[in-house]
Amino acid sequence: MTDDPPIGQKPFGPLRSYGRIKSRPIKARQAGLMETLLPQIAVDLAAPLAGWSGPAWLEIGFGGGEHMAAQAGRAPEVRILGAEPFVNGVASAVRHVEEQELANVRIHHGDARDLVAALPDAAIERVFILFPDPWPKARHHKRRIVQPELLAELARVLRPGGRLRFATDWADYADWTLERVLRSGLFDWPADRADDWRSPPADHVTTRYEQKQLGDCAPVFLDFVKRPALK
Ligand SMILES: C[S@@+](CC[C@H](N)C(=O)[O-])C[C@H]1O[C@@H](n2cnc3c(N)ncnc32)[C@H](O)[C@@H]1O
Repeated sequence: MTDDPPIGQKPFGPLRSYGRIKSRPIKARQAGLMETLLPQIAVDLAAPLAGWSGPAWLEIGFGGGEHMAAQAGRAPEVRILGAEPFVNGVASAVRHVEEQELANVRIHHGDARDLVAALPDAAIERVFILFPDPWPKARHHKRRIVQPELLAELARVLRPGGRLRFATDWADYADWTLERVLRSGLFDWPADRADDWRSPPADHVTTRYEQKQLGDCAPVFLDFVKRPALK
């Protein structure tokens, strides 16, 4: 993460919510897949779900794509859309797609908010935001991906009863998200005992960032359910 002025920030668009967009050089094989496979599985923002009528899930900030690939492998009947601006992450994800021969992953190499904005209403069954950049300093909180605007957009694209999973190992980000989601009135939080947020959900796949244990608390898992539209 950086104190620099945001690169590529749109004049009136959301603040940059991510740190580096590139780190180490990309290995030749992954670079090759970026040229050959990525164009075939890239999301077309003009029609992000064209030709697809089955269930669709969305992962925001998939990092190296391990969770996205594992979920896609388990649920071949679901199309999983993933968004990630970090080029090394996208390169890793296309490798997983190729190695695991996944036909149901589509990737947006860029800001998830652009993908969400392009999605039709009630098109998505599940959204994952797993271990997002914590932006722990108070002056950076406005860069957190969880903001009222994004929550309203996620509520728009989720079908009623659809689920939003948020996970973090930063205590303050868990509080931040819970407070904003509940205040939005758009989601229910059906948890009723500590194990509901302290224990990984049964279908969770441990992520690379989660394994690093860089936060200040044990992982917290918040599973929200989109409320039905008010009549
Ligand atoms: C801390 S990493 C966690 C990655 C992965 N979810 C994991 O748990 O291993 C957060 C990721 O979110 C991505 N990210 C940040 N802002 C984003 C945005 N607006 N749209 C999509 N991805 C974003 C970052 O590039 C980074 O890869």
